[in-house]
Amino acid sequence: MAMPETIPLLPVPPKRRLSFPLLILKTISNPIASWSQDFYDEPVVFYRSLGIETLYVMDPALIQTILLDDSDSFSKNPPHEEILGGLGGKGLLIAEGEAWRWQRRLAAPLFSPPEVARFVPAFAAAASTVLQRWSKAMPGSSQPIDRDMTRATLQVLQDTVLGGSLCEDDRRAVERFGTAFLAHTVWKIAFSSLGLPRWTPHPGALSMARASSELRRVAQRVLDRRRQDGGEAADLLGRLVTARDPSTGSSMPDSLIIDNVVTFLMAGHETTAQALTWTLYLLALMPEWQERAREEVLCVAGDEQIGSQHVARLGLLEQIFQEAMRLYPPAPALVRVTSKAASVGGIDLKAGANVLIPIYVVHRHRHLWPEPLRFDPSRFAPEAAAGRHRCAYMPFGAGPRTCIGGAFAMLEGKVMLASLLARARFELPQGERPVPFSRITLRPKQGLRLKVTLLTY
Ligand code: HEM
Repeated sequence: MAMPETIPLLPVPPKRRLSFPLLILKTISNPIASWSQDFYDEPVVFYRSLGIETLYVMDPALIQTILLDDSDSFSKNPPHEEILGGLGGKGLLIAEGEAWRWQRRLAAPLFSPPEVARFVPAFAAAASTVLQRWSKAMPGSSQPIDRDMTRATLQVLQDTVLGGSLCEDDRRAVERFGTAFLAHTVWKIAFSSLGLPRWTPHPGALSMARASSELRRVAQRVLDRRRQDGGEAADLLGRLVTARDPSTGSSMPDSLIIDNVVTFLMAGHETTAQALTWTLYLLALMPEWQERAREEVLCVAGDEQIGSQHVARLGLLEQIFQEAMRLYPPAPALVRVTSKAASVGGIDLKAGANVLIPIYVVHRHRHLWPEPLRFDPSRFAPEAAAGRHRCAYMPFGAGPRTCIGGAFAMLEGKVMLASLLARARFELPQGERPVPFSRITLRPKQGLRLKVTLLTY
C-alpha cells in the first residue's frame, strides 16, 4: 500500500477572506481556522475595520523588520499583558525595556548550548519514565500521547531548571490548571484585538482566574521549598533568588520570582510537549520515515541509553523534528502592537495597530515552500536550508525576543524522540485524525492517541 506523503489539511481554511467581525468570531473557536486561503499566497493581509487596524505579516523580509531591524517600534504590550498578564505578571515573557534586559541576562547563561548539554541525562530519564509506563500496558494498546509528553516535559523541568523543587502533586496541578488557563485565552486575544479591557466578561473567565491563582500558588510552593531546603545556587531558581537589580542593588521581589517560575513552568513544558506530540503523530502517519529514524538511532546508539556523544550524529532525526515544527509550529502566532506610527510593506499603520505574525501560515506559505503540505525532512538538510530567509522558518521566533529555551528544546526533543523510537513503535489507530487547535500553543483538538508497541531486540 502506498504511504501518505502529505498531511491532511485540517482545519480547511475558509475559501474567501472573512470580514473582520467574522474573523474575530472564528478566532474564538480556533484562530488558525480564521486565516483564509489567500493568507497562504499573500505577503500581508490588512484589515481596517471598526476603527481598528490589524496587519497579518507573512513575508519573511517584513517579519525581519518587525522582529529584528525595527523591533523597538513593535511592542509585545499591551497584548501580552492583556492575554497572559494575570498569570505571568511582569516576568521575562511579558516584561519590556530595562526590566526585560535584566531578567534575560540573568537567565540566558543557563540556556547556552554547552549548559543545556548537561541536561541530556534528564531528557533521557524522562523518556524512560514514559516507556516504563507503556511497558505495563498490552502491546499495541492506545496511549494518550499528548498527556504523556506533557508529563515527560514537566519532569524535565523539575530535574533541570527548577532543580528538583517541583513535587509530583505540583506537576499534576500544572498539568490540570495549565490546560484550564490556556483553554480560555482566545477570549483575551479577541478582546485585545478589539481594544476591549481585559476584565470584559466572557465564558470561562472564573475558571481561568482560578487556574491562574492555582498556578501561582504552585510557584510560591516551589520558592518556599527552595528557601527551606536550599539547593543548587546555579540553577534558574537559585539565580532568581540571589539576583540583584543592577540599578538599585536590591534583591528580586518574591512576586517577580513567582512571575518567572510560572513563566518558565508554562513556556518550558507545553510547547515542547506539543512539538513531541505532533512529531510522533507524523511518524505514525508516515511509517517509512519512522523506520528510517529508528534505523538511524539504532545505528548511532545501539542499545545504549541516548547520551551527549550520540546527539550530533542524529542528523535525520533533527530534520524530522524541524519539519514537524514547520507543519505544526507549537507557538502558531506572534502578536505585537505598533508603539508609534509605522509603515510595513507600504501600509501605513497608526500607533496601537495590531501586528500578527501567523507562524503557522508562514510555514505553509505557497511562495516559500514547494508542496507545503508534503512531509519532507530533507528541506532541513544543510544545503537546502542554506539559502532560506531566516524568518521563513521560525518556530522559536526571531530577534531579541527569540525563545530563550530554543537550544534546550531542540536537544530535549532529539534525545526524547531518539529514546522513544529506539524502544517503541507507534501506529495511528483507525480514524485518528487530530485537528490542530490553537490555544496559545498548537495542540490536537481532542488530544492524540497512538497505538504503542514496545520493541525487544
Ligand atoms: C519546542 C519548544 C518551544 C517553542 C516552539 C517555543 C517558542 C517560543 C517563541 C515563538 C517565543 C517568542 C515569543 C514572541 O516573540 O512573542 C518564545 C519565547 C520564550 N520561550 Fe520558548 N519555546 C519552546 C520551548 C521553550 C523552553 C524549553 C523554555 C524554557 C525552559 C522556553 C521559554 C521561553 C521564554 C522564557 C520566552 C520569552 C523570552 C523573552 O521574551 O525574552 N521556551 N518561545
